Amino acid sequence: MAKRDFLAIADFTRDEIRSLFDLAERMKKGAYREAPLAGKTLAMIFAKSSTRTRVSFEVGAYQLGGRALFLSSRDIQLGRGEPIADTARVLSRYVDGIMIRTFDHNDVVELARHATIPVINGLTDLSHPCQVLADLFTMREAFGGWEGKRVAWVGDGNNMANSWIEAAQVLGFELRLACPEGFEPNRGMFDRAKAAGGCIEITEVPEEAVEGAHVVNTDVWASMGQEQEAEVRRRAFKGYTVDAELMKLADPKAIFLHCLPAHRGEEVTADVIEGPQSRVWDEAENRLHVQKALLAVLMG
Ligand code: CP
Ligand code: NVA
Repeated sequence: MAKRDFLAIADFTRDEIRSLFDLAERMKKGAYREAPLAGKTLAMIFAKSSTRTRVSFEVGAYQLGGRALFLSSRDIQLGRGEPIADTARVLSRYVDGIMIRTFDHNDVVELARHATIPVINGLTDLSHPCQVLADLFTMREAFGGWEGKRVAWVGDGNNMANSWIEAAQVLGFELRLACPEGFEPNRGMFDRAKAAGGCIEITEVPEEAVEGAHVVNTDVWASMGQEQEAEVRRRAFKGYTVDAELMKLADPKAIFLHCLPAHRGEEVTADVIEGPQSRVWDEAENRLHVQKALLAVLMG
């Protein structure tokens, strides 16, 4: 059987996401006792920092009977210029799957092309599909599904926003993004999602995006690798803070999501992230359950 990668939300169909989440749900309840990763190793390449992704994948692999290797790209030869294709072919001889977090998405595509084992995108500048899977699972826990639901994205049109666009395309819920001019999501992904019938709108007005939304979602204004732009971005994103006022425009049962880490007082106020509508800790926990299901499906 051909190996299967997970580089983007759109790599899975709606039915596949549903069955992945059914498995994650069983795992979360403690109703799953199998060890599909027994004797298997997941290599985790990190060119950027991580708390949640690193820990949830490592713990997840262990709980499934396998193990994970943390490989900082600074320490392996990849960081000294060894070609990605060579790294992919060598790692394929030792381990059973690779999770990679890096800058250029093309590097992940290249890694997957040359690896003979499954490759998982653990975040690139373009997308963050593992996080959005956990967010979708959290949304399903809150509302039972995505049907007829409206999701608001407020802030930077970054990797998270791009993966939400793919999610709206695949699952068919309504997505409204509010991004300042010049900080819109990836044009190609947006156009593809629209062409596939996705119900997705972009505005520059946060209130328009949040009106009646069931999920209000934001992320940092300067992502990893954009630290130098932080001050310029702080000015550009003025008025895009998710605060209690903005949350009042959402559906009364709306939940607040943030992939974390968060900057209180910038993209979200402390009272919202710590408030009763916030699901951010469940969202972070769900990384573990959903990725365990993903590892079982791809590597089991
Ligand atoms: N949300 C997320 O991916 O967190 P880390 O950067 O800590 O992995
Ligand atoms: N957009 C953020 C997400 C961090 C998990 C970043 O890329 O830094």
